[in-house]
Amino acid sequence: MRIDILTLFPDMFESAFSASIIGRARQNGLLDIRLWDIRLFATDRHKTADDKPYGGGPGMVMKIEPLAACLDAVLSEEPPLALPVIVTSPQGRLLHDALVREWAGYERLVLVCGHYEGIDERLHQLYNTMEISIGDYVLTGGELPAMVIVDAVSRFLPGVLGGEESALGDCFSDGLLKHPQYSRPPLFRGLAVPSVLLSGHHEEIRLWRRRQALLRTRERRPDLLAKAALTEEDLRLLAGL
Ligand code: ADE
Repeated sequence: MRIDILTLFPDMFESAFSASIIGRARQNGLLDIRLWDIRLFATDRHKTADDKPYGGGPGMVMKIEPLAACLDAVLSEEPPLALPVIVTSPQGRLLHDALVREWAGYERLVLVCGHYEGIDERLHQLYNTMEISIGDYVLTGGELPAMVIVDAVSRFLPGVLGGEESALGDCFSDGLLKHPQYSRPPLFRGLAVPSVLLSGHHEEIRLWRRRQALLRTRERRPDLLAKAALTEEDLRLLAGL
C-alpha cells in the first residue's frame, strides 16, 4: 500500500516509521510511505504556510495555496476527487476499527496533518476530504494522529504482522477487550500466575480467557459488550461471573 502524508513537520515521522513492525513492512516493500513537506509548496520568499484567520480570533490557519499545490502534486496521477483525502482534526469523525479495516483494503491513502487553529475550509470544497479525530482531546498537531492511522491500517495489510502477531486474535476483532496475559516467571513479588494457565488444559485455558475478556469488557467498556455478537457460551460464562 502507498500512503502519502502531507505535513509541516516531516522530520517527526522518521523514527516512528523506521522501527519495529512498520519499519520492517517498509523494508519488505509492503508499505510505501511518502512524506510531503507542505512548506516546500509555498511560493513566497518566507515559505509561509499559515496566516491569520479572516474575521479575527486567536491562532493561525493553514493556508490553502501551498496545501492545494502539494495535494495536486500527490494526486497528479489520479483522476481528481478519486482518492479520499483524510485530514486529521479534532473536529473530525472518531476513528474506529471498521474504518481502519476499510482503509486497509485501499491501494493508496492520502493523509493531511492539520495544524494550528485549523485549515482553510476551501480544502474541503476542492477535494474529497474526510476529517478524522483520534479521540476527544486536542493535540498540538495532526502528525501523531497520522502516525496512529498508518500504524492501525498497516496491521491489516497482508504480510505486515508475522503469524505470532496476527490481527485476528485482537481486541475488537470479536468486539471484546483482550484477556490478561502472563509470561515467566510463575511467581513475582508474591504474585502467582493463575494456575489454569500452567495446567496445560487447552479447553480450560480457552474458557478462562474468554471469561476474563467478557469480565474486562463488562467492567471497562460496557458499550462494547452491548454491541458484541455474543455466543450461547458467552452468555453462560457471563451469567456465571
Ligand atoms: N489534531 C489535534 N488533535 C487531534 C485529534 N484529537 N485527532 C486528530 N487530529 C488532531
